Amino acid sequence: MSYTRKNMESIYFPEFKKNLPSMEGKTVVITGTTSGTGFVAASTLAELGAKLLLLNRSSERATKSYQTLKNSFPKATIHNVPCDLQSFASVREAVKEVVSLCPEGIHVLCNNAGVMALKDEPTVDGFDVQMQTNHLSHFLLTAELFPLLEKSAESAGESRVVNHSSVARMNPSTKLQPEYLEKKGGNLGGDGASFVFGGARWKRYNQTKLANAAFTAAFHDRLKKKGSKVKSLVAHPGLANTELQVTSVKDGGMGSFFTGILMGMGQSMEDGTMGILSCMCLKDVQSGMFYGPGDGKLALKGPARPFALESFYDNESTRELLWKKSCDAIGREFIV
Ligand SMILES: NC(=O)c1ccc[n+]([C@@H]2O[C@H](COP(=O)([O-])OP(=O)(O)OC[C@H]3O[C@@H](n4cnc5c(N)ncnc54)[C@H](OP(=O)(O)O)[C@@H]3O)[C@@H](O)[C@H]2O)c1
Repeated sequence: MSYTRKNMESIYFPEFKKNLPSMEGKTVVITGTTSGTGFVAASTLAELGAKLLLLNRSSERATKSYQTLKNSFPKATIHNVPCDLQSFASVREAVKEVVSLCPEGIHVLCNNAGVMALKDEPTVDGFDVQMQTNHLSHFLLTAELFPLLEKSAESAGESRVVNHSSVARMNPSTKLQPEYLEKKGGNLGGDGASFVFGGARWKRYNQTKLANAAFTAAFHDRLKKKGSKVKSLVAHPGLANTELQVTSVKDGGMGSFFTGILMGMGQSMEDGTMGILSCMCLKDVQSGMFYGPGDGKLALKGPARPFALESFYDNESTRELLWKKSCDAIGREFIV
């Protein structure tokens, strides 16, 4: 089955972009920039003068999007760093390259990449393909790059880690369940694709996006206790017209007819990128903020606004569960 994206007009993004500050002198690392919110964020940041490191798995899409950015912003410093989030070994290789390219430190790490409602399959490391791509590899990346984030926080007064969650963080479950963070890839409920009746593909996606928000809360809590100048932030794009749904339909996670109707309720990919761009660029952003469209929590479209982290994951037992299971998965401690 296939689904083709329809063009959608951006309502808020042109005005929003005019008010973003310069990012000159800032080094930004971002995952998943071959399309969607990652591509929009990368091109906006290049225009604003940031030094960019784009972490993407090697593919024609990665080469093409990198070339498009280089051609559009010839004066910008842009590096493409191979990084397949389905493999911890690949993430560790990417970290080595990032370290060598960023002796000055990192001002922003944006854990943007993601997949949705894919089949119940394990990665080479044995974890659920959605959980490793969307959360566990980003947790590893953040742990490994933390010294460089601290370095910039000391020299520039702050640095930021921005996670990308979803309205799916609260549907079908608001409870983070440990088995989804364990080496049980391929044994997490099968390939049920019913969005309405809580098919297993959607339960796994729900758990990954809940993990993104819980990671933000747990990291924020640890940073606050330490008095760190590193900030932990999270955004969600509402429903944004990107390649995410195209990939899901191709894998059997969504029907094309239903997807067409659903996307009519969404917004353009540029409008959907305002949340992560707010977290990365706006000056008055505080650690522990969550940016989402409209009224924030469940809205599918609208201008990005901040709201507080939510108690269904920002509580001690969920924060501890998330941290312990994620450290077990990546095979190292992450001491803030
Ligand atoms: N669009 C929405 O309505 C929506 C709603 C809620 C949350 N989100 C979140 O927004 C984020 C961005 O998604 P999007 O909507 O912009 O979708 P997208 O257009 O499909 O972009 C996803 C990006 O993630 C990358 N990626 C996937 N698997 C990867 C892997 N193993 N290693 C490295 N990169 C990988 C993709 O690269 P490849 O070219 O290699 O596949 C692509 O660059 C995701 O975290 C998603 O969960 C989106």
